[in-house]
Amino acid sequence: MRRVVITIAIFFMAIHSWSADGEKLFKKYCWGCHHQTAEAFGPSFRTIASKRDKGEIIAHIVDPKGTYKLFGYTRSSMPAFNDLSAEELDKLADYILKFKDKK
Ligand code: HEC
Repeated sequence: MRRVVITIAIFFMAIHSWSADGEKLFKKYCWGCHHQTAEAFGPSFRTIASKRDKGEIIAHIVDPKGTYKLFGYTRSSMPAFNDLSAEELDKLADYILKFKDKK
């Protein structure tokens, strides 16, 4: 029983540190144009999470000029972030998707 409790505790600590990283990346690179639940220059993460899957989100971060038409925009003013690592992109996408049902 004790071992189960410890395993669960470690699991939640790990989840917590992943989400913290996603939040840090968001604040560093995206916050000027995107907010979590409010519309800013770009759509809120809640809006994005409600209509995109992980692959679409990562595709737009890396190459917005390649996806904006598909996403229904007439032009794109988001810069491409093509120097982020696969791990950073993964964390950012997971962070965005957390806002799916946030009020
Ligand atoms: C200079 C402002 C700016 C910055 C910085 C920026 N974005 Fe954007 N973003 C936009 C705008 C404007 C749009 C609307 C579509 C477009 O212009 O390409 C957008 C669209 C998006 C979309 C697709 C929206 C949809 O309809 O699904 C995603 C996903 C996204 N941004 C994620 C990010 C992430 C993650 C970061 C940080 C790494 C970031 N953006 C940084 C301005 C920005």
